[in-house]
Amino acid sequence: MPIEAYNDKVVLVSPENPDTKVSVLLYGATVTSWTIEGKQQLWLSSAAKLDGTKPVRGGIPLVFPVFGKSKADGFADLPQHGFARNSTWEFLGQTKENPPTAQFALSPEQANKDFYSKWDNGTNDFTLLLTIQLSPDSLTTTIEVSNTDSKSWKFNWLFHTYLAVNDIDDTLVNNLPGETCYDQLLAETYEEKAPAIDFNGELDRIYKNVSCDKLLQVIELGKVVHNIERHNLPDVVVWNPWTEKSAGMADFEPKTGFHKMVCIEPGHVHDFVTLEPGESWTASQVIKKGDAIKLQAI
Ligand code: BG6
Repeated sequence: MPIEAYNDKVVLVSPENPDTKVSVLLYGATVTSWTIEGKQQLWLSSAAKLDGTKPVRGGIPLVFPVFGKSKADGFADLPQHGFARNSTWEFLGQTKENPPTAQFALSPEQANKDFYSKWDNGTNDFTLLLTIQLSPDSLTTTIEVSNTDSKSWKFNWLFHTYLAVNDIDDTLVNNLPGETCYDQLLAETYEEKAPAIDFNGELDRIYKNVSCDKLLQVIELGKVVHNIERHNLPDVVVWNPWTEKSAGMADFEPKTGFHKMVCIEPGHVHDFVTLEPGESWTASQVIKKGDAIKLQAI
């Protein structure tokens, strides 16, 4: 049984191993769980709301049409990270038996009305098509954004991926030295000098225009635990809330949970993508296993 559809979620199960599966909540089309042979790959807060009252704290929330808050015309009144993660998507069906693949869609009809109406006054016609593919050792999430309007509009996209780690104290992220970084905590732009990113306090950075040829790796005690490939997603947000920020988030539990996660968020957020009428834009993230450390210079 490669796919199980419920009222509120869809589960894809690997034909190779019943303990390799991915669960997608229709609310936000949020991946809330992904296991490989029973081992959880993503972090999900034990206080995450899964009932549609709040975006999910953990898994892979989808960020559209704005990252964070923006003062730009047509975006200023939108909630943080837009409305895709607060809208209930439509399950279109299974598109491939093996590897199990499913598609989900969002358009103005299904979008959260209160929030959608804040994007250019709710005048932008669009379709989002999300494809989720489960392979024995990887998960691919692909987004196609289409302009079905008679005018152009613009957007940001980001996969807000919460990766599971054993202990953030032992975690490094590689292949970012030399990249331009906007530190959201310092409100400063600088060139990353550290040979690898380590974590010893709250960290919230946007690495801009990182070549998609660069693989990003999450390494714990010298072992690669996640490889992240990006296609058409030039920016990478790295985030860990640490103690104080976690304490202030009601849906972040346990409060020590920041030890068990790191957000590596591939997106297009350094500027807006503009789509003309009839145009589409496609991008994807692939999270995969693989032991070899790959160091790539700028
Ligand atoms: C990250 C941002 O992408 O998302 C952070 O860089 C933000 O600044 C974090 O705190 C979580 O956002 P939210 O809206 O899910 O609490």
